Amino acid sequence: MKLFLALVALATPVTSFSPSSTPRRTTSLAATESFQRSLLSRRLHASSTATSATASSTSSSTMGDEFVVGILGDLHIDPRKMEDYGVGRSHFLPIFEEGKAKHGNVALVSLGDLGESKSVRPEETSELFAGTTECHEMAAEFLGSFGVPYDVVGGNHDLEGLDEFETDKENLEMYLKAHNKETPQFCRQIADKTLLVGLGSTVFRDAIYTSHEVTVDQAQIDWFENLVKTHPAEEGWKVFVFTHAPPNGSGLRVLQENHVVNGCCWLNHSNEKQCKKFIELVREHRCIKAWFSGHFHLGQDYQDSITFPTIDPKDGPYPNRGSCVFAQTSVMRSGTSRDGRQQSRLIRGNKDGFEICTVDHQKDGKIRLDATITYRGDTNELGVYAHDDEAYDHDKYFKVYAPCAGDKLHPPDDGFKRYNSDGNIEPFDVDSDTIAWWYMSCGRALGMLNGNLIEYDSSTLAPLGLVVGADELVGKKIGVINSGLDADTCAIMFEDMEGMEGLDCAGMAGDLREQAVVLLDKSTGQVTVVQPNEDGSYWRKIVRNKMVRMKEVRRVKAAKLWAAELLGLEDEAEAKVVSSWGPYVTTSGTAKKTSVPGLTAPSAL
Ligand SMILES: *[C@@H]1O[C@H](CO)[C@@H](O)[C@H](O)[C@H]1NC(C)=O
Ligand SMILES: *[C@@H]1O[C@H](CO)[C@@H](O)[C@H](O)[C@H]1NC(C)=O
Repeated sequence: MKLFLALVALATPVTSFSPSSTPRRTTSLAATESFQRSLLSRRLHASSTATSATASSTSSSTMGDEFVVGILGDLHIDPRKMEDYGVGRSHFLPIFEEGKAKHGNVALVSLGDLGESKSVRPEETSELFAGTTECHEMAAEFLGSFGVPYDVVGGNHDLEGLDEFETDKENLEMYLKAHNKETPQFCRQIADKTLLVGLGSTVFRDAIYTSHEVTVDQAQIDWFENLVKTHPAEEGWKVFVFTHAPPNGSGLRVLQENHVVNGCCWLNHSNEKQCKKFIELVREHRCIKAWFSGHFHLGQDYQDSITFPTIDPKDGPYPNRGSCVFAQTSVMRSGTSRDGRQQSRLIRGNKDGFEICTVDHQKDGKIRLDATITYRGDTNELGVYAHDDEAYDHDKYFKVYAPCAGDKLHPPDDGFKRYNSDGNIEPFDVDSDTIAWWYMSCGRALGMLNGNLIEYDSSTLAPLGLVVGADELVGKKIGVINSGLDADTCAIMFEDMEGMEGLDCAGMAGDLREQAVVLLDKSTGQVTVVQPNEDGSYWRKIVRNKMVRMKEVRRVKAAKLWAAELLGLEDEAEAKVVSSWGPYVTTSGTAKKTSVPGLTAPSAL
């Protein structure tokens, strides 16, 4: 069992939010646009033989059982950097030609995130390219130029046209139109009893937390659930699913630190109940044979980038992933790769099973077999890795600990912390390599990852998000102590109530166990209590909605101008402006102060 998770060191955040001005599209763009278009066509060395993705039916047919599907990870097209796309495409063309000649069951799927999330004309505009009409038309042209039908699922950047569209709905309509789609989801019958099915992200402006969470709406889920119910494995149906991010429970461990920290690793990540719906469907519906995702921009050279439904008990606890193989997909353009890899996926299948391959764009499109999956009846499948981990040892990676809880046959790993006889976890020093994790009595799992305190999903131990950053934690001691209701706490809670004595109150608490996660700064003696969130979880939803942040930036800007005018400053940059926005930290029941220590009031530390 591998106890390590591959993360990229110093991963830069996916967002490149720029707080500068956000002018509207100007008329001069039209000219640039057509220039870029012609550039694109020229670079693709081919007249566009755009084949649009038409809604396809799942009616029974006399199709053969063989098929070939190309899968492209996050494209993040930047019109200034088209070379790699032309090269990547040229690697697929012969594969597709061969498939067309042999059986004709050939298609292309894009996993979304089609445009660069930056201005691609920084001189002219600060408008991000991702999610704009120009971006999607360009992507449609590229995806349509492979000579086979394509389908696409929306990623977290595909509705990012904030300057061009007011609402997610308008942005989505344009996206659908550009790709000739009727709905965010798609279903294409690729071979006899074999369906390609995609679900897209439809929420950006309206996201509750980070706009980069990949959210599949209820209408699509209902549609998907109905689809898998009406195409059962017992009748021989095989369904290949495509989403931008993977579902929780997929077991994929080629994750990226910034996604872990920001809470946008999994589909519907921020809502616990919704987040597990996907894996529940996989477990129940054995027609789901494979699930492909992108999102992390990490390569396919690691076995953690593919997970099998069934594994040898000697390799670890039973994963319960239905009949489904999960596979992560890398990227095509060098500038977008987090680990230097430029790869796409290829599926070649027939009635007996399928192969998952890598098309390596750095090796002239060399095809490598990664895994072979053989169908075994309707209930489980047999998967075999075709190669060992390649190149875990290059310097863009460092190996990071991921907890393993074990099962009946396996003990938890060595990092597992046990409570002492007083019911506490002994304080221990944290440095950036500390390996430790534990369960809180409420069932939440917390642990260390590169000096950060992270919350893990309690059942799958998949990382959920950041609780305390390494900046705050490294060099301190951390411990877990009992904090159940006692007379003092009661006195605070019931201070206004006549006749409620502390002791009676503590009696009421019964054997309710409460705990506190505490940090000690050894140099100053200062102790920090890491309070859970109101819903009992610990991970902080620190990256907020992009629309909210943009408005905040605009308010600060306006405040600077206001101050400059009032104070007669030469330059508004000299104005001292802070934003007040929680956290309101008092434990008093009758709080009247709203100052934030260390920001709008003297710090307590
Ligand atoms: C992830 O899936 C597991 C297992 O199905 C579930 O228990 C857990 O609550 C899920 N986590 C989240 C954050 O939804
Ligand atoms: C995911 O979130 C969207 C938007 O909040 C919601 O409509 C949908 O029902 C959620 N998905 C699941 C599986 O619950």
